Formats: sequence, C-alpha cells, structure tokens
Amino acid sequence: MSESVKHIIEELSKQIEDHNYNYYVVAKPVISDYEFDKMLEELIKLEKDHPEFLSPDSPSQRVGGQITKEFKTVKHKYPMLSLGNTYSEEDLTDFDDRIKKALNTDYEYVCELKYDGVAIGLTYKDGILVQAVTRGDGEKGDDVTTNVKTIKSIPIKLRGHGYPKEFEIRGEIFMPRKVFDEINKEREEIAEQPLANPRNAAAGTLKMQDSAVVAKRNLDCFLYFISSDELPYQNHFDNLKAAKHWGFKISEHMKKASDIQEIFKYLNQWDTGRHNLEFDIDGVVIKINSYEQQRILGFTAKSPRWAIAYKFKTQRVSTILESISYQVGRTGAITPVANLKPVLLAGTTVKRASLHNSDIIEKLDVRVGDTVFVEKGGEIIPKIVGVDESQRHADSPKTIYITQCPECDTALVRSEDEAKYYCPNEMGCPPQVKGKMEHFVSRRALDIDSLGAETIAQLYDAGLIKNCADIYELKKENVLKIARMAEKSVNNLLEGIKASKKVPFERVLYGIGIRHIGETTAKKLAYYFKNIDALKNASLEQLIEVGDIGETTAKSILDYFVDENNAAIIEKLKANGLQFELSDEALINSSDKLKDLTFVVSGVFSKFSRDDLKKAIEQNGGKNSGSISGKTNYVIAGENMGPEKHKKAEKLGVPIISEDDFIKMIGTDTVLNTEDILN
Ligand code: IVH
Repeated sequence: MSESVKHIIEELSKQIEDHNYNYYVVAKPVISDYEFDKMLEELIKLEKDHPEFLSPDSPSQRVGGQITKEFKTVKHKYPMLSLGNTYSEEDLTDFDDRIKKALNTDYEYVCELKYDGVAIGLTYKDGILVQAVTRGDGEKGDDVTTNVKTIKSIPIKLRGHGYPKEFEIRGEIFMPRKVFDEINKEREEIAEQPLANPRNAAAGTLKMQDSAVVAKRNLDCFLYFISSDELPYQNHFDNLKAAKHWGFKISEHMKKASDIQEIFKYLNQWDTGRHNLEFDIDGVVIKINSYEQQRILGFTAKSPRWAIAYKFKTQRVSTILESISYQVGRTGAITPVANLKPVLLAGTTVKRASLHNSDIIEKLDVRVGDTVFVEKGGEIIPKIVGVDESQRHADSPKTIYITQCPECDTALVRSEDEAKYYCPNEMGCPPQVKGKMEHFVSRRALDIDSLGAETIAQLYDAGLIKNCADIYELKKENVLKIARMAEKSVNNLLEGIKASKKVPFERVLYGIGIRHIGETTAKKLAYYFKNIDALKNASLEQLIEVGDIGETTAKSILDYFVDENNAAIIEKLKANGLQFELSDEALINSSDKLKDLTFVVSGVFSKFSRDDLKKAIEQNGGKNSGSISGKTNYVIAGENMGPEKHKKAEKLGVPIISEDDFIKMIGTDTVLNTEDILN
C-alpha cells in the first residue's frame, strides 16, 4: 500500500513538474489551470497524509509557507562579477577591436538581452537545486533558496540528462510587468505606496520573510551563464541550449553574431523592440562564444574581458505642456497628469505623462505652456524630467496646485509623511465610492464577478448603490430598468450577490476596505479577534499586540470604526447575512493558547505537514520564526532536524519539544485536521 502511495506521489510530482515546464519555460501549456490546480491539490493532500514521502524537491514546495527570519550570508564559490558598460556604438567598436587584437583569429559573439532584475546564482547537485544566492557585494550574498523554490520557471529538479554532477548557473530574477501592475493596483486599493519599478519589486520580494507571499508574486527568471568543468559543449551558446532541455528558462532572443554589424543590428532591433516585451531590459549583453577564447581573454579585477553590456540610452524628447489635470484614485489620492502636445517617443505617441505629486511640480517649476523634456526609461508611463526655461513666456504664471477635489470639491488634505494630497470625502466622492465597491466585489474579497466596474458605475449614477451594503438591497426590477442588461444577466448578478453572503469573515474584512488592511492582515485580525465586534472594540494597544500590525495600521482600524457611516454599513451588511465571525470550523481550529510564544519548526513531522504545523501555531495565536534566537520560546523538532539547530537551541537554553508535545499544548480539540491526528 505505502509503496504504491510513494509511487503515486512520485508520478504526480513528475507530471506536475512537466506541466510547470510546459507552462513557465516553454510557454505552451497542455492542460488548463484548473486541471493543474487539482493535481497540485491532490499531491499536497497525499503528502500531508504521508509525510514520510514528502521530498524536499517536491513541486508542492513552490506553494511556499516557510518563514526566513534572517537570510544567511554565504560566500560565492566564484565571485559574482559584473560587466563593463558602454552606451555608444563607438565603444562597442573599440571592444571589438580589442578582441580582434587579443585573439588574432576568427571568433563568434552571442548577443543576449540584458534583463533588468536581480542577479542570482543557483547551485545544483545531482540534478537538485540546493542553493540560491543573491549577488550581494559580489563576494558574499544572501541565501534565498526557500524563496527561489517558489519561482515556477526555476527547476527544483532537473529534467533530461547530460548535466554536470554539480554546477552553478546564474541568471536574473525579475518581475513581469503585468504582475508588477497588478500588485500596484492592489496596493492602491489598500492605500499603500506603490512599488517604484519591477526591479525594486523583484529585489524586495526575494527578501520577504514569508515564502508563501513570494509564491503569490509570480517572479520569473532567465538564466544566462553556466560554469562547470563537466559541461557537454565547449561554448556558451550550445550549453545554454542544453540547459533549456534540463528545464531552465533560456531566452529565445539569444542570437549568434559573427561581426560588429550584426551586433548593431541586434541592439537597434531591441532598442525599440524592448517596449513590446513582457519584462524590462536595460540593454543587451555581448559575449564571446568559445570558452577557449574566453579563457584567453580572461578577466579584469571587476569584469570579464570577453563580454560587455551595451546600455540603452533613455530616450528623451521635448514637447509643449498643454494643461495639467488631476485624477482622483480609489483611495482619494490625487495624481497630477501632464497633457502634452502629442510627440513620438520610443515608437509610441505620447500625449500624457505622470507628474507624480505637488512636490515634483514645485521642484521642476513646471508651468502650462512650457516646453518640457519627456523621458521613457524602463517604466511604461513616460515622465517629465525638466523644463526648457529659455522657451518660457515672460508672463507665464506659476502652477498653483489645486486645493479642492476636482470630483467633489472637498478641500484636499495632506499628512506629513505622505507625498500626495488626498480627498477626505471617502463616502461622497464618486471615484472613491465606486472604487470601494469595486474592491469589495473583487475576486479576493467578496468575489462577485457578475458585478463589474461598468455596472457599478451605472447603478451608482442611477442612485441605486452608494456603498457596498446597498449592493445587497438591489431589486431586480430596478436593475432591469437601469443597467443595459438582459434579464438573464440580472439574474446572474443577483445570484452572484447572494452567493457572496457565504464568503468567510476574513475576506469580508478585507473587502470592506479599511486603509492599510491587505489580505494577510485581514486574515490575521480575523483569527485573532474572531468576530467584527471584538475587533471594533479593540484598543490601539490590543491591535498592536496582534503582531506585525504597526501604529499606522492600528490607527486606521480605530478611525474606521469611529466613523458612524462605516458602523452603519457594517450593521446593514450583517442584517443581510454576511459573515462577520469566523466559521465554526475555523473557530475550532483557533485559540490564543500560544499567545506571546515564538516557535521555530525544524525537521520532518509525521502527524502534520510542516505548513500545517506553522498554520496551527498562527491560528492558536503564536508566532513562527525561521531561526533560533534568545526570543525563541520553543523549537518543535521533527525527524532530521539539523544538528546546528540542535546545538544552538541547547546553547541558548530553548526547550526542544516534539510534535506530540505541541499537540498537547494546543489540546487535541483545537488542532487542524483532527482526523489526521487521531489516526
Ligand atoms: S552575464 C560573468 N548576461 O547585468 C558574466 N548578465 O551589469 C556575468 N545581466 O551582473 C553576467 N542580463 O546581473 C549577463 N544576459 C545577461 C544579463 C546579465 C542581465 C545582469 C547581471 C550582471 C549585470 C552586469
């Protein structure tokens, strides 16, 4: 029996990894997302029921869940060098001349894109990913293996054959633009500052403590450098092609070039072509293909002599600023937008550019009628970087920032620590009111997909809905009159609304849109307070006690409940049957028995999967930590707990307990998956 379970787990793991490869590396999925999710769910369940067969290279690892409190610093086996940069074709010609002179024979280049992300070194032993290290200072970097395992295009276990027994492959982890835009949209919804650009977002994500959050952020990775004595070919190009068969994501835009003219062609193609890619590049990289010739050319102290990076110049044009308009976001944040005389920039006609906030307008002293310089760097939205003051009319008036909301005429406010002005009229300012409802019905909140932004706008304009509680009092005949919808669609809409009444408390809490409360915080609060009334009555100190909730968030919760309008909306939602307390099932599994206690979980367990053990700790009010320190209260040790951890716990006098001790601590009536434990 158990042998066959082992076999099923192995087969399922292999199939899932094949699908991962088809989807993320080859970009040709052969099954639907739904079918894929079902397979992964089945694997996770089998591994939970049979933790003895849970392998560290299982595709279930990609879901994340492990917490890293501090990233270990490790020394690179080979220093992680950077590349010499050039910005001009003349510099490239000089580079080619130097190569010609040094080699004095035929040679071939490989041209690649220069991905704008975070450099990573991946070490594989016997086909298994064992370590992932960031560049750091080039000599030493951070061990981010746990987080890297959640990146679906990075193989945890290699495919095919012919790879060296041990080798390191380097590449660039990046965040696709689409993912970046989605994250910023969500951040805007909960009134968080947007992330600056995809590169910073990728770097920040890699250093997050909770790998489950990293897994959700959909990072990606191209590999571009492999080193080992046992590679199948004696040149870069063929080895990277081979690496593709081992499961790595190698760019299809890598191209051989036999002379400088072909290099120019490649860089000109990508100087404009880059804007159509789904990720950012900031140049191209040119490398000598033959390893023998690379050896002859060697290295300077900082970079190889056989490669060079050509960085694209940021494109800049000048045009006239015709007017400034002000947009009001869903959270009330005001964004000034420059309306420009249309101008061609990097292959597209630009009519608008972001002016970000009032400080930028002040700093640039930009005025309507000015000739302004517009740039398009890595970002999608072009920006104004300066003013040609020599072209300015003598009588041009200074820009005076608006003081009233352009949508509802309320006086704007700005708190000291924020760059933007806000319209405080949350309940009456149309884009804010509509935005709040859009957030409320969104997939991760109440998930009413039959109620889109357009319908919300129509119903709002007709005066049928003014807040999210009104959604539950919509009458079919009124909707039919207003929205341009057929009866079937209206029925569908009302069904969707009805179904949302079953959505669990934590998602309702996220949906009501308290500033600074994202999905994770909503979940934490729901488990901690268990119902809305307890949360509503909590003091600032009690809120901060929850852990990971700072003063800004705590104050925002207090402000929310003080507002009578919000209290009325909650009452109305309650009266309509929405969930404002944890479900019985969640309640059984939660307590505050572990309040103020910090745990480190280490090793493999027989009654819990490691993720469930951590979840049980959180649901019972405790905290998880990745490393043992003076603040650790208990180490829960499973099979194969590392000897180093054991030593450290003993040295610091931290009690080491078994999973059975832990079960006793929380009481058998409160553990997750009770039947598993009792079996
Ligand atoms: S090769 C020893 N190839 O750019 C050669 N680097 O400014 C190592 N990068 O450190 C680098 N795309 O982080 C190489 N196709 C590519 C690249 C690339 C992006 C990054 C990498 C490197 C930096 C140099």
